[in-house]
Amino acid sequence: MAKPKTQFVCQNCGYSSPRYLGRCPNCGEWNTLVEEKMVDDTPNRKARVSFTGQTAKAELIKDVSLKEVPRVKTNLQEFNRVLGGGVVPGSLVLIGGDPGIGKSTLLTQVSGQLNETGGRVLYVSGEESATQIKMRADRLGVGGGDFYLYPETDMGNIRDQITELDPAFVIIDSVQTMQEPDITSAVGSVSQIREVTAELMQIAKTNQITIFIVGHVTKGGAIAGPKILEHMVDTVLYFEGDLHHTYRILRAVKNRFGSTNELGIFEMREDGLSEVANPSEIFLEERLKDATGSAIVVSMEGTRPILVEVQALVTPSVFGNAQRTSQGLDRNRVSLIMAVLEKRANLMLQNQDAYLKAAGGVRLDEPAIDLAIAVAIASSYRDKETNPSDSFVGEVGLTGEIRRVNRIEQRVDEARKLGFKRIFVPKNNLQGWNPQTDIDVVGVTTIGQALKLALN
Ligand code: TYD
Ligand code: MG
Repeated sequence: MAKPKTQFVCQNCGYSSPRYLGRCPNCGEWNTLVEEKMVDDTPNRKARVSFTGQTAKAELIKDVSLKEVPRVKTNLQEFNRVLGGGVVPGSLVLIGGDPGIGKSTLLTQVSGQLNETGGRVLYVSGEESATQIKMRADRLGVGGGDFYLYPETDMGNIRDQITELDPAFVIIDSVQTMQEPDITSAVGSVSQIREVTAELMQIAKTNQITIFIVGHVTKGGAIAGPKILEHMVDTVLYFEGDLHHTYRILRAVKNRFGSTNELGIFEMREDGLSEVANPSEIFLEERLKDATGSAIVVSMEGTRPILVEVQALVTPSVFGNAQRTSQGLDRNRVSLIMAVLEKRANLMLQNQDAYLKAAGGVRLDEPAIDLAIAVAIASSYRDKETNPSDSFVGEVGLTGEIRRVNRIEQRVDEARKLGFKRIFVPKNNLQGWNPQTDIDVVGVTTIGQALKLALN
C-alpha cells in the first residue's frame, strides 16, 4: 500500500505546500505550517451536496420565482436583525470571537428561545460537560422544553445523534474541538476544521437543519483556518467587545441572507446577555459636561446611527518625537486630520502628543467621523470646551474642506432624538434638503469655519 501522502498546511490561512516552509508564502506568517495527512478521496467518501443544498437545473432568470426566505425569530431582536431578520432554516452560521467573550452564553440563550418557537435543539459541546451547560442554562433561565445537551467531539457520533433526534437546530461548541475520525491530523488543525465544517454543511443542507458553529478566534484576530470556514458557511458573525466592558457587539461579516452591515449590541449581565435597544445612550452616559477635547459624532453602524463620544487629549510632548496614540480610531486617519489641522487651521500640533479615543470601547471607521475628531483635537489643544449639545458629522479632505457623507437625514434625526440642539454637517449635504426639525442643522464648508463656529 502506498504511504499516505502528507502535506504542510498553514494553520493561519489554510495554504498547503508539499514541503515544509518556514514562512507561509500566502499570509506571510512564520512557523505556521504543520504536517498533515492528506484527505483520502476514495469513492467510499460520502457525496457532497452543493452549498445551496438544492439540486436544481438551469432556469431562465425571469422565470425564477422570488420566495420570501422563511425565518424563525428569536426574542432577541438584536440577534434577529444581525442575521437579516431571523434564523434561516437550513443555514450554517459561524459565530467567531475571543474565548470568554460570551459565545456559549449567547447560543444557550438563543437555543432556549428557538426551542420555544422553532423546534428541537441539540447543543453539542466539546468543551463543557452537560452539568456545566445545565448550570449556565439555569442561570439564563432557559432549557425547559425540547432542548438536548450532548457532550461529544466525535463527528461520527454527532451525526448519528442528529439522525436519531432530528433536531431543527444544532449548536456545535466549538468547531476546534470536533474531530472527524477518518482524518488523522490533530484536533483543531486546518484539515480537521475543514472536514468537520464540510460535514456539518452537508448535514445542514440535506436535512434542512440550522447549524450554529462556534469558532474561537486566534490571537491574530482570525478564526483558525478562517478563509476555509468563511467561504463554506452561509453567515459569519463575530462576537466582540472588550472583556473589561460589559458591552458586546455582534457583527455580521458575511451573510448570504442579509446585509453585512448590521450590528447588535448586548450587555453581559449576571443573568446573561440583554439587548441594548438604544446604544447611543450608553455610549454617551458617562460624558462629562464642559470637558475639553470631547466631541460627539453620529456614526452609522450598518443601517443604524449611533452617537459616540470622540475624545482627544493634546499635550506638549516631552521628548522630541510627538506621540500619536488612538483607541477605537484608525491612527492613520488621526494623523491625516492632525496634518490638515496644522496646515489649514493653523494649529501648531507637530510638537504635541495626541491621544485619541472613541469612548465606550467601540471602534469607529468611516469618513464621517473626521469632523468630530478634528473638533475634539482642536478643543483639547486650545483648551476650549465644545458645547455639550453639539454634534458633528463630516469627512475632512486634505485641503481642509468638509466633504459630503451618506445617510445624513438619519444621522440628524438620531441626534435630535437624543436631545442634541445643534449638528454640524457638510454644507453640500444640505443641497436639495431642507431639514425641518427641532435641531439646528449647520452646514459647514471648511474645517476652519467649523472650528470657528463650534469653539467660540
Ligand atoms: P462564555 O459564554 O462561556 O464565553 P465563550 O463561550 O465565548 O468562551 O461566557 C464567558 C463569560 O461570561 C464568563 O466569564 C462569565 C460571563 N457570564 C456572565 O457574566 N453572565 C452570565 O449569565 C453568563 C452565563 C456568563
Ligand atoms: Mg464557550
